[in-house]
Amino acid sequence: MEKILEVKNLHVTFTTYGGTVKAVRGVNFDLFKGETLAIVGESGCGKSVTSNAIMRLIPTPPGEITQGEIIFNGEDVTSFSEKKMRTIRGVDISMIFQDPMTALNPTLTIGNQLMEGLRQHHKVTKETARRKALEMMDLVGIPNPKERLNQYPHQFSGGMRQRIVIAIALICEPELLIADEPTTALDVTIQAQILELFDKIQRETNVSIILITHDLGVVAKVADRIAVMYAGKLIETGTKRELFYNPQHPYTKGLLRSVPRLNMKGEALSPIDGTPPDLFAPPKGCPFAARCDFAMEVCERVYPDDSLKSDTHRVNCWLQDKRAEHLLVINYRNENRGGGKQ
Ligand SMILES: Nc1ncnc2c1ncn2[C@@H]1O[C@H](COP(=O)(O)OP(=O)(O)OP(=O)(O)O)[C@@H](O)[C@H]1O
Ligand code: SF4
Ligand SMILES: [Mg+2]
Repeated sequence: MEKILEVKNLHVTFTTYGGTVKAVRGVNFDLFKGETLAIVGESGCGKSVTSNAIMRLIPTPPGEITQGEIIFNGEDVTSFSEKKMRTIRGVDISMIFQDPMTALNPTLTIGNQLMEGLRQHHKVTKETARRKALEMMDLVGIPNPKERLNQYPHQFSGGMRQRIVIAIALICEPELLIADEPTTALDVTIQAQILELFDKIQRETNVSIILITHDLGVVAKVADRIAVMYAGKLIETGTKRELFYNPQHPYTKGLLRSVPRLNMKGEALSPIDGTPPDLFAPPKGCPFAARCDFAMEVCERVYPDDSLKSDTHRVNCWLQDKRAEHLLVINYRNENRGGGKQ
């Protein structure tokens, strides 16, 4: 399969009065043409910062991409000028933001907002742009598009507005769509319709999608692969089946605890006891160590390397590292001795 995106060793920091927040700390992943990758993880783990970095929308200062590469169609976007980025953003890479209700301009008609990107980037005539806008409204399921084109955002319901936001994101036929919690604000029926819409659009346009969500039902429904993020790192990546049926990282196991099946609906990720580490001073070793039932001494000292469970399944946990097998034996013996028969 052809890769559309390669994120390599991405680091993003924010310099604040309280110190430097290490929000994204060495993230690696690939995205293939026409697939959907879901990024899941607790609030504050760096999902939005990662996607904003791909769009080069990290506010600088206080933020900065301090290391790494973001290869989109063979070119590293971290080296692009803002001028070049403006020709790509909304055209080749589109994003649906976490707060879609504020994404529309209340003073412009839906038609103008739909046609704006097309006219700016593709230099099409007004008539062509209008035809394309009507086609997109039809694709996202807006009834009476001709009439609706001249209306303003406040004349649309929440679900319909979200459809418009999706239509705007897709009208220039991007190769990559990043959707940050695109359905959170919507009720369940509309959520389901929007997800079906994603599916349909992907089949029709072969767009690659990065989907950020807290909703495991959404993941189960639309993801091909899942990446689990924790404290600024991707700690486990695999196909949907691998992660739902054979999770390896204790954090993934905890997070997906409530999902032994793929047909579930609207269930949120399981909360896990304890709090994530302070990203001002993240631990040297495994960031999950303080909350992990299986933590060993090495976990606190050294960050675990990638362990490959299959060609598609990667995890960072000492329990999966061949070099730590003897440590597990020692741990087991110590535990048995400690809890011995007295
Ligand atoms: N502008 C900023 N200034 C300082 N810190 C920031 C800024 N933006 C993000 N951060 C920090 O970066 C970290 C990652 O934030 P991010 O928004 O990516 O989390 P998230 O995984 O998207 O969470 P949620 O699920 O709540 O949306 C957090 O600790 C956050 O406080
Ligand atoms: S590396 Fe250690 S602390 Fe981290 S998840 Fe694995 S066993 Fe737990
Ligand atoms: Mg976010």
